[in-house]
Amino acid sequence: MKVTWRLADGREITGEVANGLNMMEAAVANNVPHVIGECGGNLSCATCHVYVDDAWREATGEAGDFEDDMLDVTEAERLPQSRLSCQITASPELDGLVLIVPEP
Ligand code: FES
Repeated sequence: MKVTWRLADGREITGEVANGLNMMEAAVANNVPHVIGECGGNLSCATCHVYVDDAWREATGEAGDFEDDMLDVTEAERLPQSRLSCQITASPELDGLVLIVPEP
């Protein structure tokens, strides 16, 4: 599947992502700046915070309870479309997904 990350400076990075990989791992593999993934996807750092493009919010679903709590401690402002990208897993239904990387 393809994923596009939109950066605050207007640049876009598009990468091919294997099914089953999470979006934090995918961002790191594609050298997307400001998506760090310090805890390795264990829901304990919030450094993988992204905003899901409006068109993709339904397909990516809602944050789980623990993710929801962690979204309260993100560095960038929490918005309704905030997700921790380690909790979004690549799948054929998400082909074309667009994620917005918050301003650091
Ligand atoms: Fe730490 Fe997502 S990588 S919460």
